[in-house]
Amino acid sequence: MNILVTGGLGYIGSHTCLALLEEGHSVIVADNLINSKLKTLDNIKKIANKSLDFHQVDVSNEKSLETIFSSFPIDGIIHFAGLKAVGESVEYPLNYYYNNLVSTIVVARMCERYDVKKLIFSSSATVYGDNEAPFFETMSSLKTTNPYGESKAMCERILIDFARSNPSFSVGILRYFNPIGAHESALIGDSPNGIPNNLMPYLTQVAKGKLKRLRIFGDDYPTIDGTGVRDYIHVMDLAAGHVSALYNLKEGIHIYNLGSGKGTSVLELIQAFEKATKINIPYEIVNRRPGDIASCWANTNKANKELKWIPKRDLLTMCRDSWRFERNH
Ligand code: NAD
Ligand code: UFG
Repeated sequence: MNILVTGGLGYIGSHTCLALLEEGHSVIVADNLINSKLKTLDNIKKIANKSLDFHQVDVSNEKSLETIFSSFPIDGIIHFAGLKAVGESVEYPLNYYYNNLVSTIVVARMCERYDVKKLIFSSSATVYGDNEAPFFETMSSLKTTNPYGESKAMCERILIDFARSNPSFSVGILRYFNPIGAHESALIGDSPNGIPNNLMPYLTQVAKGKLKRLRIFGDDYPTIDGTGVRDYIHVMDLAAGHVSALYNLKEGIHIYNLGSGKGTSVLELIQAFEKATKINIPYEIVNRRPGDIASCWANTNKANKELKWIPKRDLLTMCRDSWRFERNH
């Protein structure tokens, strides 16, 4: 199949491009490089030993995106392009709503205009808000607490209406939990700009000595040890989830949780990292981070069954691969 991957040079997109190439698909990437680097394209090619097409375009610009559709026959689209920093979304909500909503509308329009019947969208566990874990796909998705999360919930609603008006299309909404890890070559991975917000990139930078110590945001949550619990999933398993969705999506709109189905606390993650890398991580407990919830993990039965997708990599592998990537950069 010819698959258009928007945001294909980003963290999850780059691993998914690789998974698609390894399955023998042709990959066309549309990315404006707002949060990624061209070097990633070379690294994907190097690992896969295959080529892929790259177009530096803003996906929210309909005319630019249409040049791709008018030049290539496209069989399916995986739409990763979006802005994802929660704090930044509070500071610049219009940028987030504009980029995330308009790009999704433009992509859906292209599906209609060029009769591309498969569309997969990157959503997030953030749409579950402060529901009680484990999260099921059937739970309300109207409890978001920031513009980023709200933009994802709004895109979901747009795609639900889009799919209803195009019943022969297959539209998949994938709600990711917390992706960490990197390809084992350590050539591609998560490289956020500036000081990381997310736990794993912060932790690996502490391990490298770039940052002094990890700050644990609160140890008084109602969890196993008081620290926040999340569902960490290896990015290679997440990438495989997209390939499974491409193969197994039925007509209509379908929502799937992509997570490991297990909750891990911050302290448990630090212990796993220390075990996997033999590096001691200095930390201090500080106040809770505003907007954080105590626990977030997935019920993944639906994706396991309908997408025939089971994540393979354990927490130690996730820690090892995250560290390898950081060490190499
Ligand atoms: P990322 O920032 O690494 O990748 C996103 C890519 O999209 C980048 O390469 C960026 O340059 C590109 N992009 C952004 N806006 C664009 C536009 N208008 N036109 C063209 N390209 C554009 O992020 P990621 O972690 O790979 O996330 C991919 C998707 O998954 C995003 O939609 C994100 O919101 C969602 N998601 C991520 C996480 C996570 O923890 N990483 C969790 C849940 C959902
Ligand atoms: N944490 C720390 N110290 C840090 C960073 C994080 O203690 O320096 C804690 C947080 O309080 C939380 C856990 O580590 O308990 C995970 O935090 P992350 O920032 O890594 O991830 P979040 O669960 O807050 O959010 C991430 C993405 C969201 C996405 C969500 C989906 O940032 O965009 O996962 O589950 F929506």
